[in-house]
Amino acid sequence: MNSIISPSLLAADFGNLNKDIQMINESEADWLHLDIMDGVFVPNISFGFPVINSFANKVEKPLDVHLMIVHPEKFISEVKKTGAKIMNVHYEACTHLNRVIHEIREAGMLPAVTINPSTPVCLLRDVIEDVYMVLVMTVNPGFGGQSFIEHSVSKVRELKKLIIETGSKALIEVDGGITAETAPRIKEAGADVLVAGSAVFNAKDPKAAIHLLKSI
Ligand code: DX5
Ligand code: ZN
Repeated sequence: MNSIISPSLLAADFGNLNKDIQMINESEADWLHLDIMDGVFVPNISFGFPVINSFANKVEKPLDVHLMIVHPEKFISEVKKTGAKIMNVHYEACTHLNRVIHEIREAGMLPAVTINPSTPVCLLRDVIEDVYMVLVMTVNPGFGGQSFIEHSVSKVRELKKLIIETGSKALIEVDGGITAETAPRIKEAGADVLVAGSAVFNAKDPKAAIHLLKSI
């Protein structure tokens, strides 16, 4: 089966977002991945709701919002207002993850839980049946253009096993260092959704790069 492709806008040209959004609309991308950072949960700041709301209605693909912030539960209604389909919150940022997952669903979005490279898969056992998706970070979050952490392959394999064992229907998304070179290994391990920033927006032909990732 073809992978679901969610290009990460973090690597786009912020001085000319309309051009990159038009490219996404015309491409085979399935979703658009939006990385929100607060300079606290991760050592970087990206963009926030005023920026997202300035372009969200121009994007013809579902929005896959990845919150790298503390207290993501405070922003459920803001994320909903952007029209997002998926809201990803970090396991490490939620004390009451079960509650947050249910609040995201009640708000009319699909809940996804994200784990950092140092967070083990076994900690997801009690939420795996409640989430639409698990996002496995394949780099330490905060920056685009980092190298893929090879250990992620066995982690995704372990997560796939947990999903099968529990009868969960959760999708597996991977994010960080995903390229045409790393994608086959992680897909073979069980990844369904590939996020790619640099591999798409820094390519000479971004639409061709999306096509290539999709065909992996
Ligand atoms: C990093 C973000 C990623 C980032 C990926 O913290 O979550 O979505 O944009 O960038 P690449 O694909 O360049 O590793
Ligand atoms: Zn991301």
